[in-house]
Amino acid sequence: MFSLSNNVIGKIAFGTSHRGNQFEYGKLKDIIDDAMTLLSGFSASDFFPSIGGLLDVVTGLQWKLGRCFKNLDTFFEKVLEEHLDPARPKPQHEDITDVMLGLAKDRTTVIRLEKEHMKAVLLDIFLGAVDTSSVTMIWALAELVKNPRAMKKAQAEIHCKIGGYEIDVKTRVLVNAWAIGRDPKMWKDPEAFIPERFEGIGVDYKGQSFEFLPFGSGRRMCPGINMGIMSVEFTVANLLHCFDWKLPGGLKEEELNMEEEFGLNIRKKVPLKLVATKHNWEENK
Ligand code: HEM
Repeated sequence: MFSLSNNVIGKIAFGTSHRGNQFEYGKLKDIIDDAMTLLSGFSASDFFPSIGGLLDVVTGLQWKLGRCFKNLDTFFEKVLEEHLDPARPKPQHEDITDVMLGLAKDRTTVIRLEKEHMKAVLLDIFLGAVDTSSVTMIWALAELVKNPRAMKKAQAEIHCKIGGYEIDVKTRVLVNAWAIGRDPKMWKDPEAFIPERFEGIGVDYKGQSFEFLPFGSGRRMCPGINMGIMSVEFTVANLLHCFDWKLPGGLKEEELNMEEEFGLNIRKKVPLKLVATKHNWEENK
């Protein structure tokens, strides 16, 4: 799932799937893992802006941040260099880097895009897209395999159609979208996986229904919402279209480990291992 998301985003953002890219300090997945852990972890300077930086040096956080930044920066530098190479054949479809370089060359626009801006946009896309999409796919499949009724229904659907607080200035506000989405006043049996609960109630995921905000809301909501939905739906739908999914070794549905690993994206603590058998459409009728 991670490789799939990574390859799709790579193609859209950089034009290559940068498969198997090796960084100075390790593999791409490790670098993204590192960045995600660092972003979601405790940083003393977030809480004590004056002396926190010193604490972060002592705990080694500064060093880790530096290493992670260097790794990613080297990668983005290479991507820009490759795109600026005069020998590079004109691509059939422009990727996001091409679009940004085009904007940077265009002297008629008011936007002044420098190299550092482009790297920041690439980093945003990269970190915002790869892990979020793959984590969502894994959880969707894990919930479906625990719930054969919902899985059958999803497969059948694919077959028909795929279809008031005062806050001080500069306070870092973290909205607990997780708790909002599980508010028993809004949702009956909030912890249960009941996909039908969303049918016909007019609650959407696009930031307008505050009781359910998987992509956030307002000016800083996820700009990759359409792409995220498309890649998750397309992948999960294809996996369900082609295969039936069972737990290995006679493991019972209620025995599947659903522990969560804390981080910026809540990953599945124990990797999901399933047995795929070819789906028989005659049986589903
Ligand atoms: C299932 C997949 C995804 C989920 C669940 C997801 C979720 C989110 C959430 C909750 C936020 C924070 C919104 C807020 O603060 O209100 C966010 C921000 C963001 N997402 Fe996504 N996202 C997904 C896929 C993507 C993709 C595919 C891209 C890029 C192609 C992307 C790029 C970004 C960026 C750049 C931000 C930061 C926006 C800002 O701070 O202004 N995301 N995403």
